[in-house]
Amino acid sequence: METAQRVYKGLEGVYVLESSLCLIDTEHGKLYYLGYDVEELAEKSSYEEVSYLLLHGRLPKRPELEEFVGKLRSEMRLTPEEMRDVQYAAKRTGPMDALAAFYLFASKDPPQTKDPMEHAIRAVAKAGSVLGNVVRVQRGEEPMEPQPELGIAGNLVYLVTSKKPEQYQTEFLDDILILHAEHGVPASTFGAVVTASTLSDIYSSIVTGLMTLKGPLHGGAAEAAYYQFVEIGDPNRVESWLERALAEKRRVMGFGHRVYKIYDPRARYVKAMAARAAELAGGRVKTLYEIAVRLEQAAIERLSARGLYPNVDFWTPIVYTAIGIPPGYFTAVFAVSRVVGWVAHVVEYWKDNRLIRPLHLYTGPESGQRYVPIEERG
Ligand code: SDX
Repeated sequence: METAQRVYKGLEGVYVLESSLCLIDTEHGKLYYLGYDVEELAEKSSYEEVSYLLLHGRLPKRPELEEFVGKLRSEMRLTPEEMRDVQYAAKRTGPMDALAAFYLFASKDPPQTKDPMEHAIRAVAKAGSVLGNVVRVQRGEEPMEPQPELGIAGNLVYLVTSKKPEQYQTEFLDDILILHAEHGVPASTFGAVVTASTLSDIYSSIVTGLMTLKGPLHGGAAEAAYYQFVEIGDPNRVESWLERALAEKRRVMGFGHRVYKIYDPRARYVKAMAARAAELAGGRVKTLYEIAVRLEQAAIERLSARGLYPNVDFWTPIVYTAIGIPPGYFTAVFAVSRVVGWVAHVVEYWKDNRLIRPLHLYTGPESGQRYVPIEERG
């Protein structure tokens, strides 16, 4: 099939696959997973139930959810070998790389099943237990046994804080995991599907997703946004900081999006959580929140005419800080959530697999160059 000979840089505006998993309604600033409004899912559902929705294409009946949660919980525990892998990786590299190392090791001794869904469920279940222990080891603390009965969000808070989570901590993190679970084919998910299209394994697809998500233009933005608030330091310094930043052609981290040209619906939901978190936590969380409020207002004034608004990464630093998650792990928490989006896309794509192999428009020298022996090259 002949296509017009032009390059769509960054694949901007190019449809690369069909998927039923999410609809990004850019006109109204809404996001739906299999038709369900994510803001309603964040309010009423759980990350476990949303994972079922994304993997099975519908909400579960109670017995189905109980069986699914049972499978997740059994896989949330880490075997002694897995705990050893986590400690080895955590001591040698950063959080995202440690997660990737774990999944690389996991693909070496997969459960004896060919069913991709079993591997998908295992991969989703492991992420929070692995990250929680990566945080501990990198802080010089002893790893801890995961607590599956706390759920994926509660277990992660427990491992990071070494304490049984407060209700609000679990709720906030569960909502954030729901909101980050799936978003069509951003760079990391597209990469995961490219890997899967070669019939590599699902764990390798996750490794591709992780290594892609960690870039500051993508999943790394929440950490960058946090340090942006810290650099500003005081709500009264926002306007002068913004003037200088834009003059230096710096990007306001947590702003702008390739698809949303109006307010990211996830950011709207997290903003409300950030306000509650600031009230609950007070202190520096409240200061960070007040800086973020002023920066949002000033940056919208300056940038909205160009379709630049807050995205999901702008407000999460406030909530993560209130929960007790250190800034160096914000991207990895995003990854813990997005593992389900990656594996859901892989399982969906494998139903009608086609190797992904685009073309390049040649711009090099004329073909047929004569090979000149090195002695004659001057
Ligand atoms: C995520 O795609 C997804 O779905 C991703 C994600 C998901 O759920 O997986 O939603 C998660 O990655 C959210 C995005 C997080 N990234 C950031 O917050 C980093 C800051 N934002 C950007 O760098 C930027 O907005 C992108 C990368 C998100 C989108 O960039 P595009 O679509 O490639 O747009 P661009 O870089 O071509 O920018 C267009 C113009 C440029 O100005 P000019 O060169 O034309 O003069 O807008 C400017 C940019 O300089 N611009 C910004 C800006 N983002 C774009 N100017 C100031 N601040 C910004 N944040």
